[in-house]
Amino acid sequence: MKKILLLIVLLLTNGCAQPLSEPPPERKTLPENDFLIIAHRGASAYAAEHTLASYEMAIQMGADYIEIDLQMTKDGKLVAMHDRVITFNNAQQAVTDVTFDEIQLHSPEKAFERNYLDYTLPHYDDLRIVDLEEILLYFGDTVNYYIEIKSPKKYPGIEKELLKQLREHNLLDRTDIIPKVIIQSFDSQSLKDIFALEPSIPLIKLYTFEKEAHIPTEHLNELTQYASGVGVNSIAVSKEFIDLMHNKNLIVHPYTVNDAQTMRFLIDLGVNGFFTDRPDVANWVRSETNRLENN
Ligand code: G3P
Ligand code: CA
Repeated sequence: MKKILLLIVLLLTNGCAQPLSEPPPERKTLPENDFLIIAHRGASAYAAEHTLASYEMAIQMGADYIEIDLQMTKDGKLVAMHDRVITFNNAQQAVTDVTFDEIQLHSPEKAFERNYLDYTLPHYDDLRIVDLEEILLYFGDTVNYYIEIKSPKKYPGIEKELLKQLREHNLLDRTDIIPKVIIQSFDSQSLKDIFALEPSIPLIKLYTFEKEAHIPTEHLNELTQYASGVGVNSIAVSKEFIDLMHNKNLIVHPYTVNDAQTMRFLIDLGVNGFFTDRPDVANWVRSETNRLENN
């Protein structure tokens, strides 16, 4: 009788037991000692932003990453563009309301200010807006991509389409020394969606602070569930903030830093790289810092 009772108890307890669930995926962390130069919209001080020429120049100038702002056109193309609204045919239209072919009527060169004439060579004239597919076909795995998902709520499905293209170009699940792809966004839900679909990609949560950078503890704890770091407007960054982020294994990439003096100041504070329109200056300052450290 005892044996039968024991059997019944075992059957009942096994039957009621919760199925063993998979442990949640771990976020990707990035090494603090890698100092990354992120070419903001390419070498956008020297060539019209988000053009192949701007990206190419950035790589030649020693950038570790080309930064791409990504939006989706009416016909579902992932287009490299910063502004949500563009002007063509003397009218303003949202990117989401025009097709990729229509966008070609807009010249990226028009808005470009030629401040550094030594670099703006004639062959960088007549530039076009490009989509992600063209960028990936052009550069393949020869460069690293730091991709911002812009206004994802306006572009339902942008995360899945982005991951599909990255997979098709064999840019995920790699063993490179620094990650081939980093994804950034101001939208935490978009980053969480990416994390749920592809937790191997390092994710950077972007912030703009009006005063000194500060992330409330509750939010910070949530961030450490999926993010590898934060991107912060450079004037808001403090030593305390950087130290707190590092304590949480989050790297810090300020934006957008274009003068050597501010670059040196931020390096001294302990940032892990920065976004810059002038990757040549950043590369020079990084080399100088390394030389000084090694002497
Ligand atoms: O992605 C970092 C920085 O580029 C965010 O600002 O407006 O230049 O995309 P924005
Ligand atoms: Ca950006």
